[in-house]
Amino acid sequence: MGDTAKLTAGGGDYEFPVKSGTLGPDVVDIGKMYGKTGMFTYDPGFTSTASCDSGLTFIDGEEGVLLHRGYPIGQLAEHSSFMEVSYLMLNGELPSQDELDLFTYTITRHTMLHDQLRQFYQGFRRDAHPMAIMCGVVGALSAFYHDSTDISDPEHRKISSHRLIAKMPTIAAMAYKYSIGQPMMQPDNRLSYTGNFLRMTFGVPAEEYEVVPAVEKALDRIFILHADHEQNASTSTVRLAGSSGANPFACIAAGIACLWGPAHGGANEAALNMLHEIGTPDKIPEYIARAKNKDDPFRLMGFGHRVYKNYDPRATVMQKTVREVFDALKVNDPVFEVALQLEEMALNDDYFIEKKLFPNVDFYSGVILSAIGFPTEMFTALFALARTVGWVAQWNEMISDPGQRIGRPRQLYTGPTERDYVPITQR
Ligand code: SDX
Repeated sequence: MGDTAKLTAGGGDYEFPVKSGTLGPDVVDIGKMYGKTGMFTYDPGFTSTASCDSGLTFIDGEEGVLLHRGYPIGQLAEHSSFMEVSYLMLNGELPSQDELDLFTYTITRHTMLHDQLRQFYQGFRRDAHPMAIMCGVVGALSAFYHDSTDISDPEHRKISSHRLIAKMPTIAAMAYKYSIGQPMMQPDNRLSYTGNFLRMTFGVPAEEYEVVPAVEKALDRIFILHADHEQNASTSTVRLAGSSGANPFACIAAGIACLWGPAHGGANEAALNMLHEIGTPDKIPEYIARAKNKDDPFRLMGFGHRVYKNYDPRATVMQKTVREVFDALKVNDPVFEVALQLEEMALNDDYFIEKKLFPNVDFYSGVILSAIGFPTEMFTALFALARTVGWVAQWNEMISDPGQRIGRPRQLYTGPTERDYVPITQR
């Protein structure tokens, strides 16, 4: 009999099994708690709740560790590619060269959208936020792929996964083109996954588009840094949507909607807007004071994290990548200096030290994406593009779990007790 957790409540003594994973905290299995005690657990925000078993991504927030299938994010960012990390997340092992070539070939040949989907964009206002378009178009994919929405069929799950990973760059690039009134570009499958995306975004039919290798590499690395991140809000949304048996396109559209929030994936857009609002280093103390002021709703965007109570390892790579992109494009955006000094001041301020608030993945990403030429409204769309790999891998892991059931949390009811209806003439 393994370790157990003992609970004394409501006049009774109860024991619950403790389960251990390969890394990280043990868990108390409270699945039978309501049946045994007549009580629910209570954990709004899920700060102490493990919602599932998963072998995809491990985070140690205290140490600032992030592993994908056991491989440290720093090594993957340094040596791998987004296609290789996508294969790793979906299949569990790094691919051989032949496996990687076949996977890349397969993804490349799913990059085109059904031509009627291009009409779908016409229904949006030109100034629609790209995330509104992403939610709509990705959800609409389920109206075009009836041949692969039987989630009980592993082959259907596989082709839907490939279609989603392959089409996100095309959908995101088309959202951008639509917003600036330029013709939408078709994929050019001679290019890499990321090179194709750059050309569809910044290329025009009227002339050749030259992919800058250093920019392609930097953006590919940014996609790796955003690929997956354990059971974050949008991934949990995808899992919960998937637990009802909804088709994968609808589940990913739900994940996109959740990611859009400024507390989550929308923080990269909010962080760059904040840096521009600060403008110059001499204004930083004013904004740090505001972030510390309980009566001011302002928070330092790109700072803090539910799990990381240390430096987000992705932010470390991101900061290094800023300089590479600046050098490659021969640009030097003064906002980077504001970001560096803001980080320096915050990390030496007792408030941030005591609350263990560090830069997260969103703090520097906007500086790089802006230097490459993306407008701030596109930042979260790029996050969604990359996170689709994680969402799809997490969805597959959940759906193929034989013990999978629909997710259905309970509540602590605080509303009125039962009362009789009162006719309107007597109110
Ligand atoms: C992402 O979950 C993931 O893994 C997400 C993500 C992923 O890859 O999927 O990593 C991507 O979403 C990164 C986070 C991006 N969001 C931001 O940068 C927005 C700014 N950050 C915060 O809103 C906040 O830090 C959160 C939302 C990220 C985390 O919020 P928590 O865990 O609920 O923490 P909290 O709000 O309870 O904050 C704890 C304390 C509070 O003070 P007290 O009430 O204890 O006095 O720290 C303070 C907060 O006021 N605080 C901040 C702050 N973040 C937290 N104060 C100032 N500036 C901040 N950024």
